[in-house]
Amino acid sequence: MSRSLAVRSDRIADDLENLGEITEPNQPFTRRAFTPLFLEGRRYLRAAFDRAGLHTRIDAAGNLIGRRTGRKPGLGTLLIGSHSDTVPSGGRFDGVAGVVAALEVARALDEAGVELDHDLDIVDFLAEEVSIFGVSCVGSRGLIGERPAEWLTRTADGLDLGQGIRAVGGDPDVAERRDDIAAFLELHIEQGPVLEAEKIDIGVVTAIVGVSRIELLLTGQADHAGTTPMTTRRDALTAAARLALAIDASARKLASGASHFAATVGELTMEPNAANVVPAKVRMLIDIRAERRADFEAFRAELSETIANVVKTSGVEIVERLVSDNQPTAMHEAAIAVIEAAAADVGASHRRMASGAGHDAAFLARIATTGMIFIPCLGGRSHVSAEWAETDDIALGAAVLLQAVKRLDKELGD
Ligand code: HGY
Ligand code: MN
Ligand code: MN
Repeated sequence: MSRSLAVRSDRIADDLENLGEITEPNQPFTRRAFTPLFLEGRRYLRAAFDRAGLHTRIDAAGNLIGRRTGRKPGLGTLLIGSHSDTVPSGGRFDGVAGVVAALEVARALDEAGVELDHDLDIVDFLAEEVSIFGVSCVGSRGLIGERPAEWLTRTADGLDLGQGIRAVGGDPDVAERRDDIAAFLELHIEQGPVLEAEKIDIGVVTAIVGVSRIELLLTGQADHAGTTPMTTRRDALTAAARLALAIDASARKLASGASHFAATVGELTMEPNAANVVPAKVRMLIDIRAERRADFEAFRAELSETIANVVKTSGVEIVERLVSDNQPTAMHEAAIAVIEAAAADVGASHRRMASGAGHDAAFLARIATTGMIFIPCLGGRSHVSAEWAETDDIALGAAVLLQAVKRLDKELGD
């Protein structure tokens, strides 16, 4: 259903279509941070920011920023945006919808001749997804001054992360921490089934789950697959399979409660990976999402018990390493209230909900009043090429974002 909104869905559709064409041709849709395709997408966005009358720059952390100056210098900055990088074989809307919606807000303000008191920054954050360097939210952590120094020496494709940031126009030697941001709002597809199932226009995010990752290294013993008796093997893969099933059972139990919980063994490699050799080594990476920290602790305790049991009964050694550990992040009540009021202003139905996906907003919430606006996506699917969001839904979300920016400009004024 198209409504008369102050934003234009045709421009949103054009930007999404043009950016969707910038992908690995045989692996749609892939535009990973730090790759030549990502830089091509950045060139497209920068030109669109320029056409929208924004003053564009790449900040030290490697984020693309388009600024619309406000009437009251020094009052502070309203920041809106998301990320334009994708996961491999990902979708065209995860992150990109939020960058394009923010750009459309800037265009709509210009067309309506609305002058804000605050400066307005439109942002495309660098490397929100787990990048080729194996870490995520690189740009947003840099912008708040919390990018771990040791990350800069992580290497991929013959570069280290510091060189990668320089290659996109940033300067890893400049440790900035923005202190002018009064509020941050991010529009994003829900990446889940709730809004579509309940036929609700807008999700008002209350909290972003904690995202933690645990690596398990299993060491058994390579042996002849034909002659080694089943009773004497130290098979790393069957041990890993028992762990994977126990992880799944533990997560299902925790997910049956009121809070969001999920655990996924998304990465698994084995050696020597030969048909006639008993698997000697397995590396598993567990991705854990917990809205309540207590659920993460309970999961971890159960995992330790399972590991001890598998070691005892399989003879396989298992080393566990917490690779990354981010606590759940509550969105700010003031932002939640503004988004709810803005949704009501434009006649959009809305409901509060947690985010099972991680977002740059989880880091911005550490330095500014932060909120997220969810819009429905087809079948709740994301991180797949079938990911889809209706342009009218994105436009309605952009209209809510525009209205929320206007409200915040007044509410946070001096
Ligand atoms: O993995 C996540 O939750 C996010 O989509 N990067
Ligand atoms: Mn994503
Ligand atoms: Mn995203």
